[in-house]
Amino acid sequence: MEEILSVQNLTKHFAKKGIFSSSRTVVKAVDDISFSLKKGEVLVLAGESGSGKSTTARLILRAIEPDSGRIFFDGTEIGKDSKSLDKIRMQCQMIHQDPYASIDPRMKISDILMEPLEIHKIGTKAERKKKVLDALHEVKLEPAEDIFNKFPHMLSGGQRQRIVLARALVLKPKLIIADEPVSMLDVSIRAEVLELMRELQEKHDISYIYITHDLSTARYLGQNISIMYLGKIVESGPIDEVLLHPRHPYTQALLDAISEPEPDNLLKEKKIRINEPLDIDVYQGCRFRARCPYAIEKCKEEPLLEQTGQDRLAACFVKLD
Ligand SMILES: Nc1ncnc2c1ncn2[C@@H]1O[C@H](COP(=O)(O)OP(=O)(O)OP(=O)(O)O)[C@@H](O)[C@H]1O
Ligand code: SF4
Ligand SMILES: [Mg+2]
Repeated sequence: MEEILSVQNLTKHFAKKGIFSSSRTVVKAVDDISFSLKKGEVLVLAGESGSGKSTTARLILRAIEPDSGRIFFDGTEIGKDSKSLDKIRMQCQMIHQDPYASIDPRMKISDILMEPLEIHKIGTKAERKKKVLDALHEVKLEPAEDIFNKFPHMLSGGQRQRIVLARALVLKPKLIIADEPVSMLDVSIRAEVLELMRELQEKHDISYIYITHDLSTARYLGQNISIMYLGKIVESGPIDEVLLHPRHPYTQALLDAISEPEPDNLLKEKKIRINEPLDIDVYQGCRFRARCPYAIEKCKEEPLLEQTGQDRLAACFVKLD
């Protein structure tokens, strides 16, 4: 199958002021990561807070400049010229965590949804209106004509996130990057928003990067998963295999944190104690070393992300599973 996105050796470091005003440290937010996505594929990017998930998304959309690395989107290298930026900004849409922050409260829903079409100079006014009404039907906000004239504050959080989805859809995107799209919504409506996302993905064959630290919803949408830890991908592969048979101690630890004592819980319970991080340079050797219950002497070197089986990669010296 054809690739829609290929990320090669992507790197972004930030300078961070230390606790003492003179000291400066570097945050390796994204540190030489590579992955690719096939057309119609849903890739889950998971990992706890600060692992570099949102930075990766912002780099793909060129909201920020990478230090190094290459990104190919639908056959075009991004960043080479302004046409490549127009292409990614039109055909790759981002959905953020907070539907309140991502839409302007002073704008009417009609204007919010028309705006991307106007920016990209698509269609006549009548054609734009039709596209917008179609998108409202797609996200099941009915009656669309009524919603059209409302303001964001007149809608619920779930409805607002549907507006954000509709705004992405009007541009007929090939790739949607959804960054924690349901984490700020009421638990009771999360499932229906995810279900809608899945329905739209299947109907329009859109590729998704679904960013989350919630592994329990990840399996619902994803086919493949990449687990990030401190700027590195530490494990990747088909989602069911990775979550049922994790090969990296960090993946095990993440699963351990969510395993519930339910009889139908397919996730194997893992007993891993996470040590408190020691006061060491986390970028020396394996970044998970200070917290890893399996650490050995060799872990003072940095492990490479290597193949451990069909379609599976892990960056660890110890063979688990
Ligand atoms: N503009 C910036 N300036 C300095 N440091 C930054 C900047 N953006 C991100 N970082 C740092 O880079 C690291 C990765 O941040 P990022 O937002 O990508 O993580 P994340 O995986 O999306 O986390 P979360 O789950 O909390 O959203 C963090 O340590 C963060 O503090
Ligand atoms: S390389 Fe060593 S420290 Fe790192 S995850 Fe594997 S066992 Fe743990
Ligand atoms: Mg984030």
